[in-house]
Amino acid sequence: MIRRLLCLLILITPITNIFAQTSSTSEKKKMDAFVASLMSKMTLDEKIGQLNLVSVGFDVTGPIVSKNVNQNIEKGNVGGVFNTYTPVAVRKLQEIAVNHTRLKIPLIFGYDVIHGHKTIFPIPLGLASSWDMNMIKGTAAIAAQEASADGLNWVFSPMVDIARDPRWGRIAEGAGEDPWLGSQIAKAMIQGYQGSDYSVTKVMACVKHFALYGAAEAGRDYNTVDMSDRRMMQDYLPPYKAAVDAGAGSIMSSFNEINGVPATGNKWLMTDLLRKQWGFKGFVATDYTAINEMIPHGMGKDGYDVAKVAIDAGIDMDMVSEAYLDNLKKLVKDGKVPMSEIDASCRRVLEAKYKLGLFTDPYRYCNEQRAQVTIMKPAFLDAATEAAKRTIVLLKNSNNVLPLKSVGSIALVGPLADDHRDMIGPWSGAGDWKQSVSVLDGIKKLAGNVQINYARGSNITNDDWLIKRLGAGELGNENTSAQQMIDDAVAAAKKSDVVVAVVGESYTMSGEAASRSEIGLFGAQEDLLKALKATGKPLVVVLMNGRPLTLKWENDNADAMLETWFAGTEAGTAIADVLFGAYNPSAKLTITFPQDVGQIPIYYSHKNTGRPYAGDFIDRYKSRYLDISNDPLYPFGYGLSYTTFSYSDIKLNNSSIKPGQLLHVSATVSNTGKYDGEETVQLYTRQMVGSVTRPVKELKGFKKIFLKAGESQDVDFTISSNDLSFYDINMKYTYEPGDFKVFLGTNSQDVKEADFKLTK
Ligand code: BGC
Repeated sequence: MIRRLLCLLILITPITNIFAQTSSTSEKKKMDAFVASLMSKMTLDEKIGQLNLVSVGFDVTGPIVSKNVNQNIEKGNVGGVFNTYTPVAVRKLQEIAVNHTRLKIPLIFGYDVIHGHKTIFPIPLGLASSWDMNMIKGTAAIAAQEASADGLNWVFSPMVDIARDPRWGRIAEGAGEDPWLGSQIAKAMIQGYQGSDYSVTKVMACVKHFALYGAAEAGRDYNTVDMSDRRMMQDYLPPYKAAVDAGAGSIMSSFNEINGVPATGNKWLMTDLLRKQWGFKGFVATDYTAINEMIPHGMGKDGYDVAKVAIDAGIDMDMVSEAYLDNLKKLVKDGKVPMSEIDASCRRVLEAKYKLGLFTDPYRYCNEQRAQVTIMKPAFLDAATEAAKRTIVLLKNSNNVLPLKSVGSIALVGPLADDHRDMIGPWSGAGDWKQSVSVLDGIKKLAGNVQINYARGSNITNDDWLIKRLGAGELGNENTSAQQMIDDAVAAAKKSDVVVAVVGESYTMSGEAASRSEIGLFGAQEDLLKALKATGKPLVVVLMNGRPLTLKWENDNADAMLETWFAGTEAGTAIADVLFGAYNPSAKLTITFPQDVGQIPIYYSHKNTGRPYAGDFIDRYKSRYLDISNDPLYPFGYGLSYTTFSYSDIKLNNSSIKPGQLLHVSATVSNTGKYDGEETVQLYTRQMVGSVTRPVKELKGFKKIFLKAGESQDVDFTISSNDLSFYDINMKYTYEPGDFKVFLGTNSQDVKEADFKLTK
């Protein structure tokens, strides 16, 4: 199985996109000539039509839907379509564009392919926990193969928004809190989707949401963002930049404002930074109705005003607002918008279509036969199992309760134990949840000899407000009384050797428009866990959720806990493998889990403050809480294994380096337990004194190593002055000589440290 995944990965070569490179290639010249010639024939209306992106059909992520789509395509009023797929559905719309419009310009077809198209992989926050860039790239490549076989050529992914507030439901869709790791993942995803040349099995990526969407105040979706330039440049923008550098073909603007101006109308962001400083050559689409949303934001009184703000900012394509369609012509005629802006945007959209080969063959992605042999093929399902296993984080394992023995009996309980729908996550539009493997299915298949005593135990929530908001049907609620469900689960527990409780969130509780003010398990599930605990049987808690949860009681009372996220189509297969030790968990959190919602935002790379709290209980005038420690429940980088690893002290080849030199940092890592296992060795640094204050730790590298039980390995890293660069007091990205610490360890807290100097 692993070999099959490797073969797949080998097919994905990480070469920079030819079109992302500069202007001088002959390919680029050919494209420029083609597009210029086409544009010379286009009317103003036809050009504006190319800037209109409409939604057809299945999925709607805003309060407005596109109307009269077929007629608009026929009139040349549409440049791109999203929310429809299959070779047949796409072909039908493409035929209208190609056969009925004057210049026969093909449409581009987009979709929210977030973590797989039909074969669903774990949610992005889960995938990130693998710290496995090849695997992440492989999942994007499979998503591209399936999506492109299903009529699509453009995916609204990756979401690279740094997020440090688990109240925000969309934290599920990103890579977590760290800019350095987020940048590596952004690059891997772009390479996986786009490959090197937009061959027919590839798609164009759309990096979202530019920018800072993950920093919505109070974790409330679509809310205001306000942050210093320094934090923006240092912590939030790097993953977008990494995606641009990797050759991303397109970018989506975010809903939020930045420095008082919504991203969709922010010329500094879209033109000065993105195009002029970063050299982005692709096109920018808005998020869903984001141009019109600039009216309630207060950027204009009507569509005419906000269309001008958006086009002036450098926004090329209008998703669903139709503000461009309705207003750009008049804006040009009134002399308010120069023709050059329309031309620039139209050119970028046509270039994207050219790169995707749509002018050569508009039906390039409409091959039904390819769809049949590609979608959900066994190798993809194997890859989904492998990915799911590599993203499951072991949070706790007292007395080696896990792995379970393949004999005896298990009480398998909890509202998610026999779930199919939730495990494919909040954003798996084309995913068919009926084909997903539940934990019950997975265990039955793997551990045939084990007696399974199944009981649902509780609903996900019995909270009336939530049931009203999300719908009892969507929540999969059962009508049986809460007490009866608990009684059944307790009876199952009493006759079993061990209890496995599968609890967490429903898929509707994370993702877009799914902010929560409390992020613990719901009362119904807490009652269930307490009743199970009272039976005295070993309690294994298996979590399915899209965000860090507050799990203090669970951590204190469960014997073992697994964070499985929403692990996708093969979730149940992978969870069973981990529970029974067919796979030794290796994933590590890329997001801090707070003890309590009141600690948010909580992240490992915080500043020291002038009054750092060092843990002395009675030390009052320190940066701390009265009622709780500053510690997270689980820190960034945390995750256990069935084996144990020990680290030697850090060895440095020198105690100081000069700019241009390399510091070699190493440690011997040993597998001191009984199982073979994989460890993610993490490297952090700290600059002790700077022209501006510096974080207490910053991730600078990691290595995944596989060690057999009893085996040891030296793990080496190098650090250069460039790795120590940051935005200095003048906002110049540079390094400063001085004292540093370097840390190596198994997570961001549990580290060995050493000192070194960077000299002039
Ligand atoms: C979301 C985007 C998504 C778009 C299209 C919006 O509501 O914010 O992430 O790509 O809808 O579905």
